Amino acid sequence: MYICICNAVTDRHIEAAVSEGALTVEDLQRQLSLGSQCGSCKDCAKACLKEIHQQNRALAVAAPCFI
Ligand code: FES
Repeated sequence: MYICICNAVTDRHIEAAVSEGALTVEDLQRQLSLGSQCGSCKDCAKACLKEIHQQNRALAVAAPCFI
């Protein structure tokens, strides 16, 4: 799903950016240029980012590391 139409950024791009360390919308702006034109995508990007972080936390709880 497209999150930032102006820069053709999808939720998959955001997932990849998160896996590379993005924590905030500002990180996404730096990595993907998201929000650099009309800026109307920032709230949607923030919601997408929150959902990805919640999913990652749930996975970490469901599959703890046994080292
Ligand atoms: S939709 Fe993201 S900058 Fe316009």
